[in-house]
Amino acid sequence: VIYNTSIEGSILVANEIAQLIKDKQKENQNCILGLATGSSPIKVYEELVRQHKEEGLSFSNVITFNLDEYYPMEKNNIQSYHYFMHEHLFNHVNILPENIHVPDGTIDSENLYQYCIDYEMKIKSYGGLDFQLLGIGRTGHIGFNEPGSHINSGTRIITLDHITRVDAAPSFIGIDNVPRKAITMGIGTIKNAKRIVLMAWGANKSKIIQETIEGEISSLVPATYLQQHNNTSFILDEEASSDL
Ligand code: GLP
Repeated sequence: VIYNTSIEGSILVANEIAQLIKDKQKENQNCILGLATGSSPIKVYEELVRQHKEEGLSFSNVITFNLDEYYPMEKNNIQSYHYFMHEHLFNHVNILPENIHVPDGTIDSENLYQYCIDYEMKIKSYGGLDFQLLGIGRTGHIGFNEPGSHINSGTRIITLDHITRVDAAPSFIGIDNVPRKAITMGIGTIKNAKRIVLMAWGANKSKIIQETIEGEISSLVPATYLQQHNNTSFILDEEASSDL
């Protein structure tokens, strides 16, 4: 779906999430959301916060699982995804703290393997993700599933691609400060979501969007795996869609 601007597209995505939350409330059910970081979803969170403050949208039945976190990473570090999510969403809505899950970048390396398995099991224990929000990296990563990721991969520790670290360098004031690893939900975790929405804005995403939508399904561009998911939408602005 192509919109003139990222603002239009973001409001539409926020409305879909808000409607899902309300529908689940009517059925007395939890709403299990998979959430993303990066610049792409910021306006979606802004609109959800607005609807909470001005229209009374309640997050009391919302349970969230974030896609990823740098490793190692302290929670209160301003570059952490934990910090990002609290800044942009969690601190401004009535979500219960125990319903928030962001991969923990402080886990000891010897406990990491089990931690990732537990994260995966926790998502399954809620019946899986009702909705997964995604951005896309220049390498074709979703979450931090870099090229080479297996279609059935689960939550795990991954080594970041050099391009991904170059893209993250400005916010870390230099590539040497960008962590080399991250914890990420897997492709399998993401593909099990009942609904997936990937957003991409701006000309620097147009090439990877073209490869993702029109290219062959390949582990070299992990986002191409989404072609096999039967309820995925790509929400783009004019610029991001310019190579299609
Ligand atoms: C990071 C995140 C991804 C995100 C990507 C693109 O690598 N781990 O989940 O999609 O950045 O970020 P942006 O939305 O800022 O372009």
